[in-house]
Amino acid sequence: LCLICLRRKRRPGEPPLVSGWIPFLGKALDFGRDAQAFLQEQRRRHGDVFTVHLAGKYLTFILDPLLYPSVVKQGRQLDFHQFADTVAPPTFGYPPVRKGFPGLSEQINRSFQLMQGEHLGTLTESMMGNLMLVLRQDHLCAGGGGWKSGSMFDFCNSVMFEATFLTIFGGPERGRRHEGMEEMREDFQRFDRMFPLLIAQVPIGLLGRTRAVRSKLIDRFLPDRMSSWTGTSQLIKTRSQLLEQHASLRDTDKGAHHFAILWASVGNTVPACFWVLYFLLRDPEALEAVRQEVLEVLRLSGGKFSPEEDLTLSREQLDSMVLLESSISEGLRLSSASTNIRVSQEDFSLRLDEERSASVRKGDVIALYPQSMHMDPDIYQDPQSFRYDRFAQDGRVKTDFYKSGQKLKFFLMPFGSGASMCPGRHFAVNEIKQFLSLVLLYLDLDLQPGQNRVSLDYSRAGLGILLPDADVRFHYRLRAASQSP
Ligand code: HEM
Repeated sequence: LCLICLRRKRRPGEPPLVSGWIPFLGKALDFGRDAQAFLQEQRRRHGDVFTVHLAGKYLTFILDPLLYPSVVKQGRQLDFHQFADTVAPPTFGYPPVRKGFPGLSEQINRSFQLMQGEHLGTLTESMMGNLMLVLRQDHLCAGGGGWKSGSMFDFCNSVMFEATFLTIFGGPERGRRHEGMEEMREDFQRFDRMFPLLIAQVPIGLLGRTRAVRSKLIDRFLPDRMSSWTGTSQLIKTRSQLLEQHASLRDTDKGAHHFAILWASVGNTVPACFWVLYFLLRDPEALEAVRQEVLEVLRLSGGKFSPEEDLTLSREQLDSMVLLESSISEGLRLSSASTNIRVSQEDFSLRLDEERSASVRKGDVIALYPQSMHMDPDIYQDPQSFRYDRFAQDGRVKTDFYKSGQKLKFFLMPFGSGASMCPGRHFAVNEIKQFLSLVLLYLDLDLQPGQNRVSLDYSRAGLGILLPDADVRFHYRLRAASQSP
């Protein structure tokens, strides 16, 4: 009864409050079941802006994408890093960065620039070589002309996980692969299954063997091991040096920081590759159009392609693949469900547009949930279907999308926004393009008949690209030389 009496009451100027009757949990169970449906229901009742009591926190959701800019541009009163520094350390197993490690947070944020500009070129080039290495040895073996079958998620996972790992962290020797990758992938998947609970701050001790699995993964990144790797990216070299400067960090803490980068670099990219490939295989016209685009880009550059030889695609070539990029954007639109979180640093009135503002209390969370925009029929006609050319127009990437007749500044947000925007986004798109180009060029692929359509598994809602709710079987074989340009 006391708890119910202490429940928060809506103050003048504050958005409608959705509390639920369960003390502490509030509406957490309804939200967890199907966030998108829950939010749409609240929108019908309360409009585009409302506050929800979720697991002890008050989240003010802003669902109208025309209002997103007012949240994204608020830097001083709305902070992203406070939230990140509360949830990431216990999830990945390192001590909070802002407490006790002066300057480290700023150094880490600066290091993210090492995924952009000239570094993006180096990363992309290295990824190409590593993708070829893994694909060639595991899937494009000479003499392997017959059909092979397998799980499509495992295929995408095994190739992208290892090639990304080699690109970001380096390998044992030039052109060589690490031992024990399969075991590492399995451990990673075990950890990943618990990821939503860890982010929800469930103590790791309550999650069975998760702590032991995480320790095993972290041990892969102990400084002594990493110092012998070659081809390590500048991002990781710089971060290792930064971590060395902080004497109170233990080796396992440093390993945990690197492990967090591993999660960031493959946790979303692997399911993104899966979804785009799956949607393309379900739509033969789209698949052929994208394949022809890749072939045309190669032909125009005079590049010679043969299934027996390794291929290189330059950054410029990747940039010119508009239909491929559109298919990736469309795949991300359909499969991403990240929440953009900002924590209010003081009581203040958030100006939303000319007419509207919302009073916010210190410590409250402002949340954008772009999936509701991605699925809005006013913006995207027939939003549930995959249209590979939705983001292409007259041979260019299409960027004008409208809601209520007004052009949207933000229309596709799989990578977050503003201060919390993913620093690896350009690399991510490039590597997904590389993976798909190689797969479409070297392989004939088909879904095995008689399978049900897979859907999104919502257990990771709010945290990035959703996983499929079931496995997909497919078969593939090396394309014949006569099919090449
Ligand atoms: C952060 C999405 C690939 C590195 C984020 C965030 C999103 C995101 C939504 C912001 C999280 C938040 O607001 O709390 C994606 C998607 C990817 C992808 C959809 C692939 C399809 C990558 C890759 C890297 C990367 C390949 C490379 C290492 C990071 C890092 C952060 C981050 C380091 C944290 C940034 C910070 O703390 O300020 N990503 N990401 N991501 N991403 Fe990505």
